[in-house]
Amino acid sequence: IRDSSGGSERTYVMVKPDGVQRGLVGEIISRFERKGFVLKGLKLWQTPEELAQNHYFELKEKPFYPKLVKYIISGPVVCMAWEGPGVVASARKLIGVTNPLQAEPGTIRGDFGIEVGRNVVHGSDSPENGEREIALWFKDSELVEWEQCITPWLR
Ligand code: PPS
Repeated sequence: IRDSSGGSERTYVMVKPDGVQRGLVGEIISRFERKGFVLKGLKLWQTPEELAQNHYFELKEKPFYPKLVKYIISGPVVCMAWEGPGVVASARKLIGVTNPLQAEPGTIRGDFGIEVGRNVVHGSDSPENGEREIALWFKDSELVEWEQCITPWLR
């Protein structure tokens, strides 16, 4: 991993159960691919409740926490690790703000959602949480180190 002066960082992006059920997986992956980020990990799976609780532990005291955990384990999710310079903040921009009704058109939530409790996708909110969440959702053996050959055309 390179530093932020043109270097790389990683973020954890997840298509939530509503996004999977609605057939938005390809659309969402495509937005990150076309932007130029590099996919380092990808899997579809059913989240164990304990992992969902762990992922959202900072929100434990929020009134919506039980509903949020129930939502995340309500069906399969697609877990992704994306890498690239400034990927954490950029992914948040591509995703849009938490409430889909306030998210700008052109963002994933702005284009595909209307309800905060069904907001289609998750993205880490800091590089530290990106690393924490990737370690939480992926085993080391599920992450692939590879160089994208088109990189010189991007940066
Ligand atoms: S907060 O309250 O400032 O911590 O909220 P925020 O940082 O925007 O969101 C943290 C995660 O909680 C989800 N969220 C909700 N889920 C269900 N119902 C309500 N009302 C609600 N408000 C926030 C929000 O989608 C964030 O989850 P992720 O997976 O990170 O997007």
